[in-house]
Amino acid sequence: MKNILLIGGTGFVGSALASRLAKADFCVTLPTRRPERARHLSVLPTARIVQANVYDEATLARLMIGQDAVISLVGILKGNFQRAHTELPGKIARAAKAAGVPRLLHISALAASTDAPSQYLRSKAAGEAALMAAYPDATIFQPSVIFGQGDSFLTLFAGLLKLAPIVPLACADARFQPVWIEDVVTAVIASLDHSESRGQTYPLCGPREYTLQQLVAYTGQVSGHPRPIIGLPFAFSILQAFLMEFLPKGPMTRDNVWSMQVPNVCAAGCTLPFGLTATPLEVVAPGYLAA
Ligand SMILES: NC(=O)c1ccc[n+]([C@@H]2O[C@H](COP(=O)([O-])OP(=O)(O)OC[C@H]3O[C@@H](n4cnc5c(N)ncnc54)[C@H](OP(=O)(O)O)[C@@H]3O)[C@@H](O)[C@H]2O)c1
Repeated sequence: MKNILLIGGTGFVGSALASRLAKADFCVTLPTRRPERARHLSVLPTARIVQANVYDEATLARLMIGQDAVISLVGILKGNFQRAHTELPGKIARAAKAAGVPRLLHISALAASTDAPSQYLRSKAAGEAALMAAYPDATIFQPSVIFGQGDSFLTLFAGLLKLAPIVPLACADARFQPVWIEDVVTAVIASLDHSESRGQTYPLCGPREYTLQQLVAYTGQVSGHPRPIIGLPFAFSILQAFLMEFLPKGPMTRDNVWSMQVPNVCAAGCTLPFGLTATPLEVVAPGYLAA
């Protein structure tokens, strides 16, 4: 049995990865700040959930012992981007290298770039650079927005559409190429068997591009709550996001609005690596959005 450390593995992507790895008989270690939030993973027979501060270098060094691969997944949409997206990948890469862990995989984001308009995307790009500087053989994945059971994208819209008679939508023309969570998991796990993936960066996208407005309209149709959608101009998108920042679980920030100024789509013909075929949104979404 192989040992895999998932750092940031208790969230949406990590939980799907951990389930699939456990089914394939991998032994999965999941450090978390709050083990009670990872209870859903304790049913996996080969998963070990440990409370840990992954920013602490001595803790990281201990977690690396005996691992065959590390998958780095910590991501935030607001908060200290420099710490979570830039410093942490560097620390993880240095710890993995020092411990001689043979593989390091990192989940970044599509459109990450040092000159991107949002802190989220700039900090992700700086994190990729910090990771690669310490561990040049790492494999990086850059997904577009990810959909599937438990996502916080289409499911969030479905919840809003249920309540709102009309939808004033920020960044209605923002472009996405949503990728299915199970395709992301398949690509990440497949990379472990593809040695040519060392040192490579792979965008992960679904088969079709949509505007945000098209995605919200589709969600309304499938969830049984079709609503009129009013696209907001940029200044109102920023204002709406600013007001949402005052809500404890506000669904959007001004930085998210800036992220959406960059198309979140792959180059033509490039969806998934390793000869995998991307699953259309329309095949999966009705299964978890339908009323
Ligand atoms: N979901 C998407 O559509 C999408 C699209 C593109 C890229 N990505 C990237 O994919 C990765 C996984 O995303 P996800 O959707 O699975 O995220 P998620 O559900 O929010 O999970 C985030 C994970 O990171 C940990 N985490 C969050 N904030 C942290 C902090 N300040 N310090 C330490 N750990 C922290 C959480 O662990 P605890 O158990 O400690 O809370 C959790 O395991 C992220 O890097 C994200 O940027 C996601």
